[in-house]
Formats: sequence, structure tokens, C-alpha cells
Amino acid sequence: MGVDIRVEDLNAWYGPVHTIKDVSLHIPANHATALIGPSGCGKSTFVRCLNRMHETNPSARAEGTVRMGDLDIYKDATPVEIRRRVGMVFQRPNPFPTMSIYDNVASGLKLNGFRKKRVLDEVVERSLRQAALWDEVKDDLKKKSGASISGGQQQRLCIARALAVDPEVLLMDEPASALDPVSTAKIEDLIFKLKSQYTIVIVTHNMQQAARVAENTGFFLMGKLVEFAPTTKIFTNPSDKRTEDYITGRFG
Ligand SMILES: Nc1ncnc2c1ncn2[C@@H]1O[C@H](COP(=O)(O)OP(=O)(O)OP(=O)(O)O)[C@@H](O)[C@H]1O
Ligand SMILES: [Mg+2]
Repeated sequence: MGVDIRVEDLNAWYGPVHTIKDVSLHIPANHATALIGPSGCGKSTFVRCLNRMHETNPSARAEGTVRMGDLDIYKDATPVEIRRRVGMVFQRPNPFPTMSIYDNVASGLKLNGFRKKRVLDEVVERSLRQAALWDEVKDDLKKKSGASISGGQQQRLCIARALAVDPEVLLMDEPASALDPVSTAKIEDLIFKLKSQYTIVIVTHNMQQAARVAENTGFFLMGKLVEFAPTTKIFTNPSDKRTEDYITGRFG
């Protein structure tokens, strides 16, 4: 099941450049939350602070508190533990290209020491079903590599790989922006189904997409969270003039 994410006074830097500025927000469990805003406003940096990936960049640093359920992810856990609990999917699908479809999904479990074939088989099937990919690949699990399927299928494979380790949170940074409309619709359907079981945070440039999948939406501008509210409010009656200007296309 998903957990609530509570962010308090988060700041992040690349070297001297201050890219996330005093961001606080509450992302509710088992819902989808969209993050929108113009290019360079800090959306990717923000989500990378939620799984401690930001700090893997040697010049980068983050300060503030991020709680996932009872866990203070910067105090109570190692980055490795966090990344087990928080799955991430990126703009460009990044399956392990030489591994089979099966091994792509099983890789995280194998790293965690699971060896029993029956358990692995079960998890691979469950994860591929959850990612709405099972029917398309079930006869090729060990025959085809992660790179030999379509881009949309690769992205669903990456989602299956993320789900296989049973995370609580799923971060998606523009997961459909490299995909055609049919594959995009599949990813959106998937988010809609998965959000009852996981806490989903999705960065998107597509406002219709935010409106279709997310209960809440945050608008970022120049490293600040300008407004965070129910998606319908953001798109119909925003409180802040800057949000209104953005969603009506006056800038960005
Ligand atoms: N690896 C990096 N090193 C230095 N600065 C970076 C790095 N990555 C991002 N930045 C800077 O941090 C700021 C926020 O970038 P970020 O990638 O988080 O924005 P974004 O909202 O995700 O943009 P986009 O919509 O284009 O993906 C930008 O000013 C960017 O130039
Ligand atoms: Mg980005």
C-alpha cells in the first residue's frame, strides 16, 4: 500500500545554484499527484529528492525533511533502502537492454537475494499484469530482450520492473512524453488503476494528462511551489495569478 509523503522546507542545490526553494507539501497516499510547471522550474529535481537520487550527483545537495509514512528518508534510512520503497520511471524508457523481459522484471528481486523460481515466476507475472503488458509478452519472456520491444512496451516493462519490488511510492518523470498517443493512453489507464495501491507522483507537461489522472496538482515556478490544490481547482479556479497565467498558456 502507498504511504503519505510529507515534505517540509525542502531546498536543493546544484553546486551554488539554488534550484528548489522552501518547498513544503503533503502528498496523500493512494492517490496520484501531478507536478506541472515550465521547463527548468525544478520538477525533476524535486522528485529526485523524494528517492534520494538527487544526491547521487556529486555537486548536488538537499536540505529539509521528507517523511514517507513514519520514515524520515534523510535521517532514518539509507539511499538503497529508500530506492526499494520508492520506484521511479523516467521520460525515456530505460530497460536493461541485454537482459530478457523476465530478467528485467526479476532483477530487483534477484539483487535482494530472491532465488526461488516459483516466487520469481509469480512476481514477474503479477508485475507484468499490473503494468498491462503480460498478454503482449507472455510467450517471449525469456526469448526477447528488454530492448527488442516497442517504446511503449519498454515503458510498461520499466513500470513492471519498478512494481516487482513492491514499492510504496511510484515516481514518474514525464513517463509518456516519448510515447505515441495509444501508448500514452495505456500509461494513463495504468496510473489510474495503480493509484489505489500506491502513492503516485507524476511530472507532466501535458495538462490534460494531469487533469485525467491526478486528484491533486502542484504548480512549480523557478524552484518554488506556487500552488498545490485539487486538480480541478488548479485548472478551473486557481488562487494564484501565476498559476492562471501558466494554465491559460500566457507563459511557459
Ligand atoms: N545535473 C545538473 N547540474 C546542474 N544544474 C542542473 C542539473 N540538472 C538540472 N539543473 C538545473 O536545475 C534547474 C531545475 O531543473 P529540473 O531538471 O529540475 O527542471 P524541470 O522542471 O524538470 O525541467 P523540464 O521540464 O525541462 O524537465 C534548472 O535551472 C536546471 O538547469
Ligand atoms: Mg524534468
